Amino acid sequence: MDSAGWDNRYSTKELVWTGRANQFVEQNLADLEPGSAIDLGAGEGRNSVWLAARGWKVTAVDFSQVGLDKALQLAADNGVEITTECADATMYGPDAPVDLVVLSYLQLGQEAQRTILEHATTWLRPGGTLFVIAHDRSNVTDGYGGPPSPEVCYTVEETLNAIKGLDISTSEVAERQVDTPDGVKTALDTLVIATRPL
Ligand SMILES: C[S@@+](CC[C@H](N)C(=O)[O-])C[C@H]1O[C@@H](n2cnc3c(N)ncnc32)[C@H](O)[C@@H]1O
Repeated sequence: MDSAGWDNRYSTKELVWTGRANQFVEQNLADLEPGSAIDLGAGEGRNSVWLAARGWKVTAVDFSQVGLDKALQLAADNGVEITTECADATMYGPDAPVDLVVLSYLQLGQEAQRTILEHATTWLRPGGTLFVIAHDRSNVTDGYGGPPSPEVCYTVEETLNAIKGLDISTSEVAERQVDTPDGVKTALDTLVIATRPL
């Protein structure tokens, strides 16, 4: 979907996604020393706001200004500040190295995924962390929800191939339990966490 499509999707008063941070973000980043962070494809800002509340200086990047406006509102509602930047993630680059880059369900074609992941590895300070959570390609056939197109899903293998040179601490297909009207269902996510060597 292009930026106009996402603008349209976000043009409801209510949040399209939840205001609560992704569970894997909460589980894996809670103990990280705060510093500077980029939330790439931040959408309505749930992860940006959670990080900002823990002392991170967050730049929320997205090509949907409507999504970013909602992120700023969510930040204000939670009494925190974030910076937003409306940009195409494939063209974006920070002015200075950062301590954390988060990609959370940034749905892009495989070539763009690779480009962005390669770029993101170069934005990290030594010791900085790359955190990737995304719909795994196996979710299309074996999991719940998520996009029906395998093209915009990730795999652990492709993600690792794009971030060569980083030290990998987590690389797995993670199961996420989702409450649905038909009971609890399991969604399958690519989860990769890596750091730039010192
Ligand atoms: C599924 S949403 C996830 C939002 C958020 N990261 C979260 O986890 O709640 C995907 C987001 O990626 C953004 N996006 C998709 N392609 C993009 C691109 N090429 N450049 C910047 N943002 C993009 C969309 O606007 C949308 O906000």
